[in-house]
Amino acid sequence: MLPPISFVGGGNMATAMIAGLSRLVLRPELAVAEPDPAKRATFTAQGVVATAENTQAVAAGKIIVLAVKPQSAATALPEIAAAWDSSKLLVSILAGTPTAKLEAALPSGARVVRAMPNTPLAIGQGMVGICPGKHAGSHELGLAEALFAPCGKVLRVADESRMDAITAVSGSGPAYFFRFAEALVDAAMALGFTRDEAILLIGQTGAGSWDYLQRSGFDAARLRQQVTSPGGTTAAALNVIDASAFTDLWVRALAAAEARGRELAKG
Ligand SMILES: NC(=O)c1ccc[n+]([C@@H]2O[C@H](COP(=O)([O-])OP(=O)(O)OC[C@H]3O[C@@H](n4cnc5c(N)ncnc54)[C@H](OP(=O)(O)O)[C@@H]3O)[C@@H](O)[C@H]2O)c1
Repeated sequence: MLPPISFVGGGNMATAMIAGLSRLVLRPELAVAEPDPAKRATFTAQGVVATAENTQAVAAGKIIVLAVKPQSAATALPEIAAAWDSSKLLVSILAGTPTAKLEAALPSGARVVRAMPNTPLAIGQGMVGICPGKHAGSHELGLAEALFAPCGKVLRVADESRMDAITAVSGSGPAYFFRFAEALVDAAMALGFTRDEAILLIGQTGAGSWDYLQRSGFDAARLRQQVTSPGGTTAAALNVIDASAFTDLWVRALAAAEARGRELAKG
């Protein structure tokens, strides 16, 4: 069973993680520090200890999840440090904030894991990349994995510099799928379907195809070939797609996201 978990910041991501953890048969003790009284009341109604004091929440937890916006971290971190002891682990979900910066704000030797989740975490289907700080190892990564497991899947990376790539692939990734869905809906409407019809056709085709890919045991290329007869309709569409250097487009897009992540991390 997970040790007591305290969230500093009770916004969208903390709410989603608490919902995931609350589905566990052996639910860990949960606390949250959050300035908004309305949000605190919602947590209290779920049996989560809610306080306005970061120090109080930190004192109650063994895993401390830093879930404020990056711009609020400068206020929250000294309060976390004030209630810190070496038995605690900080798991930070702050986008683009290196572990060295978090460690520098805490007592020396503090154990820190950095995580990069994505928005499908809100429905328990998140993808989370995690990496250890200087004083964290496989035990701490295991705790972080167990923390996120109720909300999605987890990939460990050993080298923190890979977190910009994680951000580029899965952190920003939902937006790529949404953009693709938007383009396909527009294309279906150009063939004369109403918006609702296009959303139904594309939404069900997308969901069904992804499920089929996951369950069939075949890779995407094999399944694509299965629906592509030489000289047929699918081949006609794929000829247009392939002529646009489709893979290269995504290689460039993800490289741009990774490069931007590196720039932002430098501050
Ligand atoms: N959303 C995503 O897709 C995503 C993905 C990856 C990583 N992240 C990271 O996740 C973190 C949280 O994102 P979010 O979408 O959950 O943000 P959010 O909804 O704004 O939640 C942050 C919460 O922290 C509270 N807060 C502000 N200052 C505080 C302080 N000093 N001490 C304690 N609580 C404080 C805020 O309260 P008030 O609103 O009352 O000020 C708010 O409820 C961010 O750092 C973001 O980079 C988000």
